[in-house]
Order: sequence, then C-alpha cells, then structure tokens
Amino acid sequence: MVSMFKRWLRGRLGISENADDDDADEDAATYGSLVRKGRHVALRAHVEANREAFQRWYADEEIASLLRHDLEPLSDWQSRGYFDSFVLPLSARGLCFAIHERKTKRLLGTTALTDKMRTGIGDSALFRIVIGEKDSWGRGYGTEATRLVLEEAFQVLGFSEVRLEVFGHNERALKAYERVGFRVTGEHSEWVPRRQINLRVIEMAIAADEFARHGEHLREGHRGPASYLLKGQREERKAARAAKRLRRAEKKARRFSHRSAAEVPDLPNPPSTTD
Ligand SMILES: CC(C)(COP(=O)(O)OP(=O)(O)OC[C@H]1O[C@@H](n2cnc3c(N)ncnc32)[C@H](O)[C@@H]1OP(=O)(O)O)[C@@H](O)C(=O)NCCC(=O)NCCS
Repeated sequence: MVSMFKRWLRGRLGISENADDDDADEDAATYGSLVRKGRHVALRAHVEANREAFQRWYADEEIASLLRHDLEPLSDWQSRGYFDSFVLPLSARGLCFAIHERKTKRLLGTTALTDKMRTGIGDSALFRIVIGEKDSWGRGYGTEATRLVLEEAFQVLGFSEVRLEVFGHNERALKAYERVGFRVTGEHSEWVPRRQINLRVIEMAIAADEFARHGEHLREGHRGPASYLLKGQREERKAARAAKRLRRAEKKARRFSHRSAAEVPDLPNPPSTTD
C-alpha cells in the first residue's frame, strides 16, 4: 500500500521510479539527501556530520601531495573553515556533493563544481574530487563519481563544459579522467617555493556533447530527490531574476515615456513559465 502511494506520488511529482529506493527519509537525515546514484557510489548533499572525515582527509600528507598547489596538508582550523564556509554552502546550492559507497552508505569523499566562467560555448565549471578514504582508491569509485558529477553538470545544472587541473604525477586521477572522456587542453608549470620544485599541471576539459558521445555505451546514473528539488529552486531563482529585470526595465521605460517612441528602450521578454 505504502509503495503504491509512493509510486503514485512519484508520478505526480515527475520523479523517476529509480530515484529514491535507497534514499528513505531517515537516510537523507543521516547521510544527506540523494542527488544521484550509480552502480557503486552515490552523490549526496553534505551534512555537518561529514566534517570530521573531511578534516581527516585534508590533513593527510599523501592526499595533499596529489591535490593542493602548495602540496601542504590543511591545519585543523583551515579545513574546518573550508568545510563550513565553502563545502556546506556550495552543497546546499547543488554544486558540491559527498561521495558515498552505495552498498554500505560509507562516506568516501567529496566532489564539487566551482569557478563558474563564461566561455565561447556557454558556462564552464571547474571539477574537483577527493576520495578521502584511501582504502577505496583504485576500485573504480572515482571514475564513477566523476561520471555522475558530469551527468549532473550537463543534464541538470546547464553547464556546457567542465574543466579540471591535475598534477602530472597523479596517474590514478589522469586515468580516471581519460576514461570518462576528458581531453588534455594544455599544461603549465607552477613553482612551489617551500619544496623548491616545479609542479607540472595538466589542464583537461570535456564539453556536454563530447560527454554524451563518450558515454553513450555506459549505464546512466539515476537522479535522486535532491537533484529535482535543487533544479526547482534554481528555476524559481531564475524566474525571480527575470521578473526583477522586467520590473527594472518597466521602471526605466516609464521614465522614458515622455520621450518619443524611438527613444524608449526595448523591454526584455516576460519570464517564461514553462522553461
Ligand atoms: C583521483 C581519484 C579521484 C581517483 O579515484 P579512484 O577511485 O582511486 O580511481 P578509479 O579506481 O576509478 O580509477 C583509477 C584508474 O587508475 C588506475 N590505477 C589504479 N592505481 C593506480 C596507480 N597506483 N598508478 C597508476 N594508475 C593506477 C586504475 O587501473 C584505473 O584505471 P582503469 O580504469 O583504466 O583501470 C582518487 O584516487 C583520489 O581522490 N585521490 C586523492 C585526491 C586526488 O588525487 N584528487 C584528484 C585531484 S585532480
């Protein structure tokens, strides 16, 4: 009876059948709402309880040597500040995700889309990922999590391109990114004064159509409730911004109304209710 009701409700809300079978309410409260899930890992919203693990990952020397441009681990207060002022707010906006193992729900890492910028083909975001639990490296989890983030970026968040930077010595990451379809777009070197070494930094990118072509033989991940919810909120914000622009333009037009018709600026289109 309950499952029939859930199926009916999903139908009414336009949520796919597969969206929430491992995202019961109690899971969302404990582990964070489900954003998207693949075969082995799930992306979830970050919750405060993730802070302790996050701080442990960022205090690790080996992880720092693969991740940070100064190659130094973060201190306790630095990682706390990073988590509280960057990770949690970005996660609430649907741009940063906790990576969990699906079977055990264990928290494994974190991933994010940051540094949005406008390019010739549309909006581009910078991809970041850390599988912080090192016993989970090399099991395909990072590759799958990367693919799930790209699905979210292109299918839900409206990005046209995702780019990244990876150190030349990070072979595991390079392999994972190539497998997902990223191509090398350039490279540069960075001087690390404390270590007196030059870091080789490889730049990679993937466009939405490249990802679609590359992944057409792969099984897609399933979206979770948080992905639908955040898309709704983004659309509401977009409509509110359009309405504000319209009000501003109308006000301006009223100021110009005593002038000749030719001098009145064009009004933007009213906000669409269907997009
Ligand atoms: C980079 C990272 C996300 C990759 O995730 P992962 O789950 O470990 O990687 P996967 O198992 O999905 O894929 C790793 C690939 O490297 C290969 N690999 C595994 N161990 C390797 C090693 N020691 N050296 C070289 N390649 C290795 C695997 O065979 C696999 O390639 P394949 O799919 O062609 O077989 C993860 O290791 C990580 O978070 N590392 C620390 C932080 C970091 O480097 N972040 C990225 C910054 S750009």
